[in-house]
Amino acid sequence: MKILIINASHRKGNTDQITGEVRKKLEGYEVRELILRDIDIQIPDGCENCAESEVCPHIKDEFSELIEPSIRNYDVYILATPTWSDNVTPLALIFWNRIVSWCHEDNKYLKGKKLGVITHGMAGQESWDNVISWVKSICSWEQCKFVGSLTCKTGSNINNVELNQEKINEFVDGLL
Ligand SMILES: Cc1cc2nc3c(=O)[nH]c(=O)nc-3n(C[C@H](O)[C@H](O)[C@H](O)COP(=O)(O)O)c2cc1C
Repeated sequence: MKILIINASHRKGNTDQITGEVRKKLEGYEVRELILRDIDIQIPDGCENCAESEVCPHIKDEFSELIEPSIRNYDVYILATPTWSDNVTPLALIFWNRIVSWCHEDNKYLKGKKLGVITHGMAGQESWDNVISWVKSICSWEQCKFVGSLTCKTGSNINNVELNQEKINEFVDGLL
């Protein structure tokens, strides 16, 4: 079982702390964490190909050349993002709009795979539910299986995470 965590936090903060806790529970599995802020990933240029969900022929960056080809072969994908303005972070949106060519029949490598989400923030479940419902809609267009969410309260400062082990166990059980 190969698991890819897509960490879309803009800083080394609470998201990293939560993914660290989740990774402890996943010991024994092959887990890779992709920290988007550490990667050269440009914004989509909005060309006709991007609009048609094809691979953009113009953008050549670390993401297109090295990273994207290496993330196709996982069984479980986890998007880990703080909630920002009742949504995922800008980094998460850039990532997803760069891989939206997964919609193309030839590139549909998420099809039949599992996708879960970790999200958190200062507000509360109503705010985080918007992120969860967006991830569920990804599952619908990519034909992958939604395998659960892990949410918790976090503060604006770092090392401020209210998360209990029971919730993490429940989330991890759903992934496997
Ligand atoms: C621009 C911005 C918008 C935010 N919007 C929300 C929000 O809509 N709902 C929420 O629960 N928290 C919101 N927060 C709080 C963050 O989710 C919270 O501080 C989180 O711990 C940040 O995670 P990080 O340490 O990985 O960056 C927002 C924070 C920022 C910086």
